Amino acid sequence: MIIAFANQKGGVAKTTTCLNLGAGLALRGYSTLLIDSDPQASLSCYLGADAGKPGLGDWLMDRAPFDQVVRATPHANLSYISTSERLIADEALMEQDKFKALHYLKRKTETLRDRYNFILIDTMPSFSVLLANNLVAADQVVIPVKLEWLSIQGLAPLLAKLRDIQDNVKDLQILGILGTFNRKGVTECHKCLSELEAQLPGRVFASTIQLNSKLAEAAGAGKPIQHYDRLCQGFDDYEKLTEEVLKKCPAKKKTHAEAR
Ligand SMILES: Nc1ncnc2c1ncn2[C@@H]1O[C@H](COP(=O)(O)OP(=O)(O)OP(=O)(O)O)[C@@H](O)[C@H]1O
Ligand SMILES: [Mg+2]
Repeated sequence: MIIAFANQKGGVAKTTTCLNLGAGLALRGYSTLLIDSDPQASLSCYLGADAGKPGLGDWLMDRAPFDQVVRATPHANLSYISTSERLIADEALMEQDKFKALHYLKRKTETLRDRYNFILIDTMPSFSVLLANNLVAADQVVIPVKLEWLSIQGLAPLLAKLRDIQDNVKDLQILGILGTFNRKGVTECHKCLSELEAQLPGRVFASTIQLNSKLAEAAGAGKPIQHYDRLCQGFDDYEKLTEEVLKKCPAKKKTHAEAR
């Protein structure tokens, strides 16, 4: 199962969700690969990647094989592919090739389906050839939405983009809309959730992620929340999300030895 985390709006918890859902799946024994496809490289930074080593762009442009770009984490069943700002230059190269511009990542990830239960792609906060590559490679998309009015307004262009891909390229499902930065008891958050459910009935995750500073702290410490603080709200929320995702996407576990 290949899942992209997408929203062209910045700071809605795409990276945080990719990391912590990935860690939740890995903890349960599912072989999981995270791909950092944002030239800002937040995920790579959190995971401590060395920017000098080959990364996503090198793999996509055939400068390095998969074995040279995949990196281990200290956590069982969890690997990742890092990125760097150089990906922007690679994106420009991709754009020049009209025939396969949107298919660079898919061409690569298809070869990994036997190795991993889950491949999670962290995407950049703007419409671009890279984001299109991420969506074309994915089977499902998770859309994190910050529970405030402006974020809901910003959803329409993304949904239009997804429809465009569904109509012209491939069958891409919305796995779920995820309410993030939720504040229990705050009317605006509650209304936003109801509005999302009204716009996309049955597509909004029952789980939401509450505002919790421990999530930012954990990222700053380079750790998924599961390996930083298991007594906080952020841990509970990502545990619930992991269970919900597994219910929607049942998978037979592969061992990580098989995976690497
Ligand atoms: N539930 C939360 N509570 C508090 N802080 C959070 C929460 N989720 C994420 N954060 C923090 O908010 C900031 C933005 O989160 P994140 O980087 O995951 O968003 P993003 O959508 O990936 O952003 P970008 O569009 O820039 O890639 C980060 O500092 C992160 O640690
Ligand atoms: Mg991000």
